[in-house]
This record gives sequence, C-alpha cells and structure tokens, in this order.
Amino acid sequence: MEVLAQRPRRLRQTPALRALVAQTRLHPADLVLPVFVREGVSEAQPIGSMPGVVQHGLDSLVAVAREAVTAGLGGLMIFGVPATRDESGSGADDPDGILNVALRRVREAVGDDLVVMADLCLDEFTDHGHCGVLDSQGRVDNDRTLVRYASMALAQAAAGAQVVGLSGMMDGQVGHVREALDRGGFTDTIILAYAAKYASGFYGPFREAVESTLQGDRSTYQQDPANTTESLREVALDLDQGADIVMVKPALPYLDILSQVAQMSPVPVAAYQVSGEYAQIEAAAAHGWIDRERVMMESLISIKRAGAQIILTYYALEAARLLAPNPQPPTPSP
Ligand code: PBG
Repeated sequence: MEVLAQRPRRLRQTPALRALVAQTRLHPADLVLPVFVREGVSEAQPIGSMPGVVQHGLDSLVAVAREAVTAGLGGLMIFGVPATRDESGSGADDPDGILNVALRRVREAVGDDLVVMADLCLDEFTDHGHCGVLDSQGRVDNDRTLVRYASMALAQAAAGAQVVGLSGMMDGQVGHVREALDRGGFTDTIILAYAAKYASGFYGPFREAVESTLQGDRSTYQQDPANTTESLREVALDLDQGADIVMVKPALPYLDILSQVAQMSPVPVAAYQVSGEYAQIEAAAAHGWIDRERVMMESLISIKRAGAQIILTYYALEAARLLAPNPQPPTPSP
C-alpha cells in the first residue's frame, strides 16, 4: 500500500461526508422566479422557445405567487406584456397598465410573504421595442428615457412593488429613479440595478415571451461581451447612485464577471439565468443528451459558487421543490 499524506478522496466517500464538506448550498430563499403577465388573457399561454414557462393571466399569476410563498422562494420578478404599445411606452406608468395592475393583485394576495419585484424598463411597452424613447434620428435618448423611468418607478411603487428592477442600462438611471422615489415618499422602495447587463444573444427566447417588436439590437446601451472593466465601472456607478442590490446578466456565460463583482460589492449581488440559458438546458434534455435536473441544479450551484447571493431563474419553483428536505417521520429508538 502506497503511503500518501494527501488523499482528497477521503472526504468524498459517502453522500453524508460530501454534504458535510460542501462549501456552497442553495436555498429556496436564494431564488427569484421571473414571470410574465399578459394583458387580456384568461388562461396561461405557453411560450414555444421556453417549454414549461408561460405568459400568465392575472388569476394564474396570483396562483403562482401563492405557490412561490409555499415553496419559500425569495421573490417574484414580474414582466408585463401589454395588448397595445406606443412610441413612449405609455402603458408602463399607467396605473391601469398590465404590469401595475398585476403588481397590485399579487401584492394583495401575498402581502409581505414574498418579495414582489417589477421589471423597470420600457421595451415591453414601446412599439419600436427599445428600452427607452427615441430621438428624432431614431437613437435611444438617454435623458428623456430617465424621465419615463422615474414615472414608471412611482407607478410601480404605488402599485405595491417592493423592489424595482432597472434593466434598461441608461446612464444615471439608478440615481434618477432613487431621487424620484424619495421625493414621492417611497424611501423604502428597493432598487435592484441590472448593473452589468450584456448585449446578449441569450435573451432570444425572452423576446418571444414578451412578444418583442425590436428591430436591430441593444448594443448602444447594453455592454459588449468582450469587456470586463466596464462592468466594474457600471457597478461602481450604480453603487454610488444608491443601488441596493446589483445584478450581473446573463449568468453562466459571465461567471467571471459575477465573481469579480461579488468581490467588490458591499451590497448583495444577484445574477440572472436568462431565457437562452434555460432554453439550452431544456433543448438538450428534450433530446436526451443531458440529465435535465442534474444540469439545472449544477448550473444554479455554479452561479451561487461564483458569488451570487440571489439568483433569478425560470427554474426557481422546481429547484425549490427539489431542495425541500423530505419530511421524515421520526424513527422511534429501540
Ligand atoms: C429588458 C429585459 C430583457 C430581459 C430581462 N429584461 C431583454 C433584453 O434586454 O433584451 C431578458 C431576460 C431573459 O432573457 O430571460 N426589459
């Protein structure tokens, strides 16, 4: 027998030993479920490129919010899909707009038992599909967009959103929205800043989910996948402007960014496992090429290990159920 001083395999012998030495653990409270609510539908509608994910009607949305409470999720991030769109995205700050109506319904149903979050961006509400309003030359007008975001934040806070998720990547959006919320008396409304958001092909299936009308891309406001230091700058700016939580998005292809942000951020760090990440797993699993549940849980633990305290994932409910300890009846001792 070889005398080896170091045998790392000793700690891997049994499931109990491996659980004892596991450095990263997922908990249902880490997970936030992104959900879509569509105006004017009474029943949930499937989304072709995201099998298992739906566009909810108001009733099925409330039902899923209740399920999220039961599953012990951290929160729900709500995206609205309006029936009509216009140049300025007027449905976004209309108290009767689908997202604001949904926020009111969900908050009434779950109260403080779940953290209710609202996507704060104009892309679902504009007829051109951009995250902001356009200038006379068709470019996204940063500063006029900030005015729209401030109005949207007030409408969402009034409707009951505890967290507003600023996903538009306009310069100065966190500071501008913070000031508007404070002036409006919403000093307790939390800002989750999509601080490092890349212009990514992984958002493809999401565009179907929100029936996006976008022509072209978002490369003038979202970040270039080639860059790292730009993310650290974006995070620093958002922190300076009062972000309560910062997010990196997408997640798995950007774990290096996530890890660096986690090391420098004094506030909680979130990551968004986006639609294309979900669709990849689903598609490969449907072919029988990977073990779906295993890859799902492995992707989530990897995102947590890289430094995310909070994970937005379409798998939130399913993962939470897998994580729930099976209640075992106590075994009587002899
Ligand atoms: C913009 C927004 C997008 C996503 C979340 N918020 C789309 C985009 O920036 O083009 C993508 C989420 C996903 O792909 O799951 N409101």
